[in-house]
Amino acid sequence: MEMKQQTLGTDIAIVLGTRPEIIKMSPVIRALERAGAPFFVLHTGQHYSYDLDRVFFEELELPCARYNLEVGSGSHGEQTGRMLIAVEEVFAKEHPALVLVEGDTNSVLAGALAATKLHINVGHVEAGLRSYDRQMPEEINRVLTDHCSDYLFAPTENARRILLGEGVPDEKIYVTGNTIVDAVFQNLEIARSDAASDVTALGLEPKEYFLVTLHRQENVDSRSRFAAILEGLDRIATQFGLPVVYPIHPRSRKMMMQFDLRATNLRIIEPLSFLGFLQLESNARLILTDSGGVQEESCILGVPCITLRDNTERPETLEVGANILAGAQPDRIVTGTGLMLQRRNDWTNPFGDGTAGEKIVKTVIEA
Ligand code: UD1
Ligand code: UDP
Repeated sequence: MEMKQQTLGTDIAIVLGTRPEIIKMSPVIRALERAGAPFFVLHTGQHYSYDLDRVFFEELELPCARYNLEVGSGSHGEQTGRMLIAVEEVFAKEHPALVLVEGDTNSVLAGALAATKLHINVGHVEAGLRSYDRQMPEEINRVLTDHCSDYLFAPTENARRILLGEGVPDEKIYVTGNTIVDAVFQNLEIARSDAASDVTALGLEPKEYFLVTLHRQENVDSRSRFAAILEGLDRIATQFGLPVVYPIHPRSRKMMMQFDLRATNLRIIEPLSFLGFLQLESNARLILTDSGGVQEESCILGVPCITLRDNTERPETLEVGANILAGAQPDRIVTGTGLMLQRRNDWTNPFGDGTAGEKIVKTVIEA
């Protein structure tokens, strides 16, 4: 189908759809507001449950999305395809001057692809991350998004080197730090001063519990892998005698029920708000996770991390000594826990100084 060349408007479109995108785009949105730059939020509706979506808009005081496409859940092709159709309709109506996406979800790919096909410039926040594991849907999304973007906001020099190695021209790459540092710095004090502490409410003692998140498709959609990780977590609860708290992602809850898996030694709770989760993270003795954002946050907060995956696109966390990979083997989870409990948490945060949002906005406004 032929697309007419459109005259572009002045608004920047922020396309987002899931929990980490809302959190990591919040510093960019704040910086746009401060700069008085016209923008609007286009929510794909990939995440829609209150505690994966609305709660973050409320807590971070973000402007409501001008559009919510209510795409919901589905297979990759179905979900991404529905987004692509609906995002294109919005862009054709709004003619945004630029589209900003953050991360590696299906919403990111749909937003970037729809914009590129309409000759609208795309800025990719968190560009240049690679796990080199093409089985992960996120890896495909980030490679494709990077290669159709016009502004690549790399969080670290390492990410820049990866992009250069793939032939991305240097003039398209901006090393800004990761916006998660901004989000943590902007919210940690508020989280700490929150009288209704989630740590206390859960009956936990600071530094006397382990915190877990686990939701990645390759972990929880495989019965054997999910069961092995739960066994490892169950064993650390017994062996180290500390509560293991797991705010569970709805995907994982659904798969646990479907596979009829149990984890009697874990404290499974509902997903938390960002402030609540930050409190739990900063007070945890150790974090075990397969989340990208949580690997970064533990590193920023000085809490040792065990990544329940065979690889990571955040190698900086391994290099500074904040994180180790344990895969899905119970023995490695147990030994890794013993090892990380000994680790001195005096590493330097490799993800920037908390001004990534400002730098990104300055770049796109001056362009
Ligand atoms: C998606 C991203 C993943 C990211 C995660 C953040 C892709 C390919 N995956 O994974 O990279 O780490 O978001 O949390 O884009 N569900 C609900 N309520 C919701 C949303 C989902 O109950 O609001 C349940 C549904 O059963 C759904 C399942 O979770 O089928 C998976 O949701 P989906 O958005 O497809 O993937 P995530 O696992 O959330
Ligand atoms: N998070 C949250 N509540 C929770 C679990 C996580 O607010 O119960 C936040 C966490 O602080 C981080 C983000 O969600 O900023 C990570 O999102 P997720 O793990 O879903 O996705 P990923 O980062 O793996 O793409």
